[in-house]
Order: sequence, then C-alpha cells, then structure tokens
Amino acid sequence: MQERLALLKNQALKAIAGACSIVELEELRVRYLGRKAGALTEVLRSLKDLDDAEKRSVGQAANVVKNELTDAFSKRLADLDTQSAKAGIDLTLPGRRRFIGSKHPLTIVTDRIVDIFTGMGFEEILGPEVESEWYNFEALNIPEGHPARGEMFGNFYLPGGLLLRSHTSPVQIRVMEKRKPPVRVIAPGRVYRRDAFDASHSPAFYQAEGLYVDEDVSLADLKGTLEVFSQEMFGTDIRTRFSPSYFPFTEPSAELSISCVICGGKGCSVCSHTGWLEILGCGMVHPQVLRNVGYDPEKFTGFAFGMGIERVAMIHYRIDDIRHFYSNDIRFLSQFREAW
Ligand code: PHE
Repeated sequence: MQERLALLKNQALKAIAGACSIVELEELRVRYLGRKAGALTEVLRSLKDLDDAEKRSVGQAANVVKNELTDAFSKRLADLDTQSAKAGIDLTLPGRRRFIGSKHPLTIVTDRIVDIFTGMGFEEILGPEVESEWYNFEALNIPEGHPARGEMFGNFYLPGGLLLRSHTSPVQIRVMEKRKPPVRVIAPGRVYRRDAFDASHSPAFYQAEGLYVDEDVSLADLKGTLEVFSQEMFGTDIRTRFSPSYFPFTEPSAELSISCVICGGKGCSVCSHTGWLEILGCGMVHPQVLRNVGYDPEKFTGFAFGMGIERVAMIHYRIDDIRHFYSNDIRFLSQFREAW
C-alpha cells in the first residue's frame, strides 16, 4: 500500500510539472484527486478493508500525499496563470528587423548635381523622353546623313519619325524656343542609346544638361562654372582639365576631366594609367543653334554641357559596374546616404 502511494505521488508530481495549460492541469487534478474516481480517492476508499493499525499508518501517509499534491497543483496553476497573462509575447522569438528606406544612389547624385547648379543661379527644368528628329538632331546642327542619326548608329526609333532622345541636349532647344535670354537651366533626365548592357554601358541612362545664354557669356564663364561644380561634387583637392573635342552643336567644344579620385593623378587601373577621368562634354553654343531658335548670335553667346549621371555616381561612390544601379538589389541600394 505504502509503495503504491509513493508511486502515485511521483507519477502525479511529474505530470503536474509537465502540464502546459490550465485545462490540462485541471484534467490531471480530476484524475488524481477527483472525488468520484481520483486515484488517491480510490486509495483512501480501500482503507476500509485494512485492519486498524494499517488503516492509521496508510491513512496518515495518504493524507500527506494528498496535501503535497494539492500544493503542487496550486503552485503550477499560479505559474501557468502568469504565463498566460503574457500571452502573445513569445520572448524566445528573434526580433523583427525594420528596414529604413533610402534614396536610390542616382537620385542622390542627381539631386546633388541640380543643387550645385541651382546654387549658381541655374533653374531645373525637364523635357520629354520621346522626341522628334528636329529637337534631337536638326536644331542641334546634326544634319540628315550625319553618322549620329540612323537606326544603325544606336537610336531607338518610334513610329511617325519620333525617337527616344539619345541625349538631353534637345531640352536646350525647347527652352530657348520658349524664352528670351538670359537663360540659365539644368535639365536632368533619362536618355536612350542602342548600346550593349555591360559594366560601363546601358541602353537607358541618365544625363544632366546645362545651358547658359546671355550677352557676353564667354569660355571663361564655362570653365569657371564647371570648375566650381567639379570641386563641389568631387572635393576641393581635385584638379580639372579641359581638352579639345567635337560636338556639332558647340564651337569650340571641350571635354572636362578631373584628376583621378583613386590615385590622385599618379595613374591606376581606374583612370587607365592616365591620371585623369573624363566627366562631361561641353562647349560654346554653336551660332547655328542660336539661329535655329531665333536668337541673334551677334548679340548672344552661351555655353552648354552634358554629363552622364551614372558616371558621376560611379566616380563619387567608387562603383565599378553600371548594372548595379538597375538590379534593385537591396544589399547594394541600402548602402547609400546623402554624403554632402
Ligand atoms: N549631348 C552630348 C552627349 O550626349 C553632351 C554635350 C552636351 C556636349 C552639351 C556639349 C554640350 O554626349
């Protein structure tokens, strides 16, 4: 009898400790201490068949067990109560990461370019991405038959003689047609060329076009403006270099390079060991372009420039593959913060 009691007690304590819910605990209480068919109740009931001496000793032992079990039940019940009070909060779950959005690096750099020029009195304007041949070529002094024109030479033509603009220069024409000098604008936007999609080319990319036309605008104004831009954009320790170039819509034309931001001009693989990085094309607006929009080239002069925004961003952030900009990989995109 005593052994049976000890076994029952151990079984019950184990079961109580393992009970995971109040419902489960109540079931156990009925099974062990229930008045009708509880296991301990059965033991107490069977006392009547024992002799007096046994009755006393087993009865005492059974009462001790009953008290112990009652205690264990109420302790476990209190535990489960506090746990369920915290229901819904599982402290063992790993935390949930919150992502903070950030601007696309090309947006950051475009904003910065526009900021620098508006700080110098330029106004931001936009033009359409679908253009006519007049705005994209003719008005810019690129005649029919010029190698820059035809489909073979890298343009996306649309029905009706339209095309996706191959540069932002048509915005120059649109603004000059509408306004009288002084005109001082910066026009960022997307352009399209039938280029391969590789580490340094994309069929769609961004440019920013600048234009300043007034009386007495000189090449010195062009150089001064773009030098200020370069230092604001890339740091005051860089040097600039203008070298002769050719564009049908500017005369003279030039290319602007900055001293390599990686090697400081000594020569490395990024600058092809020249020490210089080309960043934009520029020049004095061609007299024929001024005539095409009804400006008198004897009275007005101006300068224009066009830069590739991806190229500026790649130099600034040291990015080696243009395709990163368009891959929408959050691991890449989340690295950029406004750095000015
Ligand atoms: N439109 C030229 C290009 O896409 C850049 C440029 C703009 C050059 C304005 C001179 C003046 O390459």
